[in-house]
Amino acid sequence: MSAILLLYSTVDGHTRTICERIAPVIEAASHTVTLERIEDAGGIELSAYDKIVIGASIRYGRHRRSVFEFIEARLSALESRPTAFFTVNIVARKPEKDRPETNPYMRKFLRRTCWRPRLLDVFAGRLDYPRCRPLDRLAIRFILWLSKGPTDPNAVIEFTDWTRVDAFARRVAEM
Ligand SMILES: Cc1cc2nc3c(=O)[nH]c(=O)nc-3n(C[C@H](O)[C@H](O)[C@H](O)COP(=O)(O)O)c2cc1C
Repeated sequence: MSAILLLYSTVDGHTRTICERIAPVIEAASHTVTLERIEDAGGIELSAYDKIVIGASIRYGRHRRSVFEFIEARLSALESRPTAFFTVNIVARKPEKDRPETNPYMRKFLRRTCWRPRLLDVFAGRLDYPRCRPLDRLAIRFILWLSKGPTDPNAVIEFTDWTRVDAFARRVAEM
């Protein structure tokens, strides 16, 4: 039995929802899970955990600074145990951009940090135009228009492949 720390960086909550899907799969494999927002994890004693997973969403082309700050501050703890990282973004709705090797944000992430998690994955996120602030809605609709995605301002679409999230969770349980 392992103690697994699941850290997430989210704005609208979808990355947390993904973690909430991952947690019971790991628990079903007899491990314990602690779920924490990465911004609140500064004081966590990482030596209490056997494995660490970080999930982070993309907003305007970037993972948040808090993700990199945590990784830099805790690099030695991350390097001394099995770890995993996943990114959540809308670009990943496209089959040709939904793998760690092909997703531009995962590639950018790996260029920005020297942390090399044992497992990497990419999940397509959730689009919720009605919930966006007007300027954000305009910007995202434009980005989606450029990439031939949905632009109906009333659209709420979850692109996440939950089967794939489950498969990732099982790999975390086994790593
Ligand atoms: C204001 C805003 C900006 C976004 N920028 C991008 C982007 O640049 N590239 C992308 O692929 N997805 C982008 N997305 C999509 C998010 O990554 C997606 O909605 C994800 O599910 C958000 O996860 P979260 O709720 O955990 O923050 C953006 C979403 C919003 C609302």
